[in-house]
Amino acid sequence: MAVKAWLMDDGEEDQRLPHHRVPVEYVPLSQLAEIGILYWHLDPKDYENNEQLNEIRENRGYNYMDLLELCPGKVENYEEKLNNFFREHIHADEEIRFCLEGSGYFDVRGKDDHWIRIWIKAGDMIVLPAGIYHRFTLDTSNYVKLMRLFIGEPVWTAYNRPQEDHPARRVYIKSFLEKPRIALKAV
Ligand code: LAC
Ligand code: NI
Repeated sequence: MAVKAWLMDDGEEDQRLPHHRVPVEYVPLSQLAEIGILYWHLDPKDYENNEQLNEIRENRGYNYMDLLELCPGKVENYEEKLNNFFREHIHADEEIRFCLEGSGYFDVRGKDDHWIRIWIKAGDMIVLPAGIYHRFTLDTSNYVKLMRLFIGEPVWTAYNRPQEDHPARRVYIKSFLEKPRIALKAV
């Protein structure tokens, strides 16, 4: 099963609710690919011996790995962490997450700057490109266990919006948002 993603409504209710539009407007994987998002579905169990995961890590140079568990009561500074994750931000590097257990929402900005909500569950692996505006929240299940991957020494610094002059943002805009310019040739 491919990952489910949809356009978000503008409701102010609990961030952990789905926030579908009425009627619901799903966003296909191809549209996520257009804004630079990569997706795989892998076996979430026994990740140490997961050949597909090891192959992706090798091919893309993801040598760093750690695990992040989020649920109320279990994590220090839980509220503060969740608030920070849900503040719209970018990073200078890719954000690579592999969901091992539970579920949650990655919200990313689409081409028209509307929110696309991506529902991550066990087995979903996602790569958000450097410079994409995004945020994360738990859903109503209130639990997620994520593997975080990184190339080299991890840097988790989040730059909150607006960041239009950040080099990573500029590269992102050039790569994924600007229409390719067609050179006009005189005939
Ligand atoms: C992060 C998580 C929660 O933003 O994916 O670090
Ligand atoms: Ni982030």
